[in-house]
Amino acid sequence: MSAKHRALVTAPFRGEGLETLRGLADVVLDPWIDQQPLRIYNSEQLAERVESEGADVLVVESDSVKGPVLDAPLRVIGSCRGDPNNVDVVAATARGIPVLRAPGRNADGVAELTVALLFALNRHVLRADADVRRDEVYAGGTIPYQRFRAWQLAGRTAGLVGLGAVGRATSWRLEGLGMRVIAHDPYAPEATHSLDDLLAEADVVSMHAPVTAETAGVIGATQLEQMQDGALYLNTARAALHDTDALADALASGHLGGAALDHFEGEHLPVDHPLVGMCNVVLTPHIGGATYDTEANHSKLIADGIAAVLAGEQPHNLVNPEVLT
Ligand SMILES: NC(=O)c1ccc[n+]([C@@H]2O[C@H](COP(=O)([O-])OP(=O)(O)OC[C@H]3O[C@@H](n4cnc5c(N)ncnc54)[C@H](O)[C@@H]3O)[C@@H](O)[C@H]2O)c1
Repeated sequence: MSAKHRALVTAPFRGEGLETLRGLADVVLDPWIDQQPLRIYNSEQLAERVESEGADVLVVESDSVKGPVLDAPLRVIGSCRGDPNNVDVVAATARGIPVLRAPGRNADGVAELTVALLFALNRHVLRADADVRRDEVYAGGTIPYQRFRAWQLAGRTAGLVGLGAVGRATSWRLEGLGMRVIAHDPYAPEATHSLDDLLAEADVVSMHAPVTAETAGVIGATQLEQMQDGALYLNTARAALHDTDALADALASGHLGGAALDHFEGEHLPVDHPLVGMCNVVLTPHIGGATYDTEANHSKLIADGIAAVLAGEQPHNLVNPEVLT
């Protein structure tokens, strides 16, 4: 018996979610992540592909779902992102097309990278590794034990700015390491600290808020100054939350002990930026969510949502519930 629906899936899709979707539709699985060079469809390209596949179910991650794509007779659109900003939700709603999203899909992945960066920074892992590779273990007449001492994390205080999916996933991990965790989040009742109090108390400040009018540049020179001498600053959220030049100054002056960053404006850091030359800085290129589990998580969220929508129900991850009322 052939499935009733036909799904074009250009997102990575795996695991239980893929099996669920295969039970609902004939699936054309052609994920962007398998393409070299990178292939992200614009709206015209995606509209052509949707039409040629005869799809009535569309699942994407980064392709543009706007304009002509929404002229197709789609029953449902799944955007495998927390924020489905690649979809023109207003236009989809006007055409009565349900749009699904995948909140929290990468929370564990980002939280794990946050912990990895914290350890790498605090225990000087990259510098120590480099000394071994260069056979400079006894550099400058010292032994490594002299150069690479650190305070242990257990017993220290971590301050989380933002206590949503990633913040919560980071919180229990840090508590598991023996850290005291405090948080600032005006919209989460369990977050008890003002930003000022958090900055004054935390040995480690870790950013987990989205970029909004309220949070853009929230960590500037004044806030960095409020942090403790030797404090560590982590940002696995978005670079727009901090003033990068002020951060470089706070590190260069010796006030901050170090920083670890997983995101940069425009997705890159110029090679001549002061941060690049600092040995108490760890830099990664926006890989927080890059786990296979992220893909499995969004697959399940989107496939379960599609099943519910096709059954006339309203799943929790439906962005525009008004289309089903
Ligand atoms: N590095 C990566 O690969 C990666 C992957 C996923 C998410 N992220 C980033 O991580 C951040 C958190 O993502 P999430 O999935 O946890 O989002 P989320 O929406 O689940 O949580 C965000 C939290 O921030 C809080 N918040 C809003 N305004 C605030 C403010 N003024 N001060 C403090 N907190 C505030 C919200 O109340 C919410 O609890 C986002 O910036 C996101 O872009 C990065």
